[in-house]
Amino acid sequence: MRNMDWKHRITIAVIFTFAIVLIAGKSFAQLPKETPEQKVQRMKWWTDDRFGMFIHWGLYSMPSRHEWVKKNERMTNEEYQKYFELFNPDMYNPKEWAKMAKEAGMKYAIITTKHHEGFCLFDSKFTDYKCTNTPYGKDVLREWVDAFRAEGIKIGFYYSLLDWHNPDYTIDRNHPQSQTSDTAYDRMNKGRDMNKYREYIKNQVTELLTNYGEISVIWLDYSFPKGKQGKGRNDWDSENLLKIVRKLQPGILVNDRLDLLDVEGGWDFTTPEQYKVSKWPEVDGKRVPWETCQTFSGSWGYYRDENTWKDNKQLLELLIESVSKGGNLLLNVGPTSRGTIDYRAQDRLKAMGEWMKYNSRSIYGCTEAPPEFQPPDNCVLTYNPVTNRIYIHCLAWPMGVLHLKGFKGKVKYAQMLHDGSEVEFSDSEGYWNPETKAEDVISLSLPVLKPNVEIPVIEIILN
Ligand code: GLC
Repeated sequence: MRNMDWKHRITIAVIFTFAIVLIAGKSFAQLPKETPEQKVQRMKWWTDDRFGMFIHWGLYSMPSRHEWVKKNERMTNEEYQKYFELFNPDMYNPKEWAKMAKEAGMKYAIITTKHHEGFCLFDSKFTDYKCTNTPYGKDVLREWVDAFRAEGIKIGFYYSLLDWHNPDYTIDRNHPQSQTSDTAYDRMNKGRDMNKYREYIKNQVTELLTNYGEISVIWLDYSFPKGKQGKGRNDWDSENLLKIVRKLQPGILVNDRLDLLDVEGGWDFTTPEQYKVSKWPEVDGKRVPWETCQTFSGSWGYYRDENTWKDNKQLLELLIESVSKGGNLLLNVGPTSRGTIDYRAQDRLKAMGEWMKYNSRSIYGCTEAPPEFQPPDNCVLTYNPVTNRIYIHCLAWPMGVLHLKGFKGKVKYAQMLHDGSEVEFSDSEGYWNPETKAEDVISLSLPVLKPNVEIPVIEIILN
């Protein structure tokens, strides 16, 4: 320093100050602020689209007995290694998947870039535990993104915060090598460094949000902060991770599993899992954007011997009922280890697509109906506020007549949605039907024969 001339000294001081500002800026920066209206606008495509595909794919598709197989069977890395050494989905053709999603009526798709097992479906610089080092040899994610984008489907990434392979990730109660006492955990976790793991997450999320173009959704999964052997916001450094996400992809939508529920801007939508909500979910008395994620059969990863598959009608009901309470459905497929979609999943996607082909108008852009319109028995309503139309979904087909309370004087025209055939209605009282004596009731006259549609829909064009 002593021999340095003043120019050098100034340069060093300037660099030093810059570095300080940069470091401080990074850790003290706020999450971007927005007004409730701006948030509604940012989320608009998503609240319009309503229906997405979830994809759980990884090494666990090989044992095909749950994506948690490593934990459920308490496998070690060595025992799990055979899947990595043999992973070779020779029939993987994401263009086919994208077509299936599109034909089912799905508008966005979210794939597991890394699940809890730690295996990466993308060519990350920060690990060797990735698809490019398996016999398959290629960047699975790159092919997937290209194929789905080409079909006009919005791209979303699931990324597991848990990691059962990374040597710095500390063993916790959800880990395959979970222990029964705190001292045992301490012993097992010697040498593991969560600081390094937090860096690893940030690096990988940065790769994902930098190398694959516009990413519409990031699904970070998940936090389990309760107890000493849990993990939450401090373990992931959630706030700083989220700042990176928002900075790299300002328009992106983020789920609610970073353990930042009480932080402003800490999440965009809530994610009731495998659960059909009874009403629009609220936080602090306010309705929030929500998406239920659901499986066809129970597990997320491909599970050969699972026999608890939902039927077509149940799946359509999930979709319709979600929209009727202002929410989205993210429906999961677990591709096989050869890269194909199981026939049972294909059948169901096709059936949903057949229904959507004629009835998607009651789904896209729709939401909960205003409260003055009451759903008749066995019916579910949705509403499009832009076109001012109500959709009546008949889960059970009525016997010739349907009374609608709250509709009198408000209806311009009614038709079956699937074939555009007029449905006549009147507001006169019927002798045998006391319902019609109420002031605000109209009666639709419907064919006795149920139309050849899984769940028939009546479209009501309001005045
Ligand atoms: C849970 C499970 C996981 C699955 C996810 C989907 O967090 O751990 O296997 O990916 O739910 O919502």
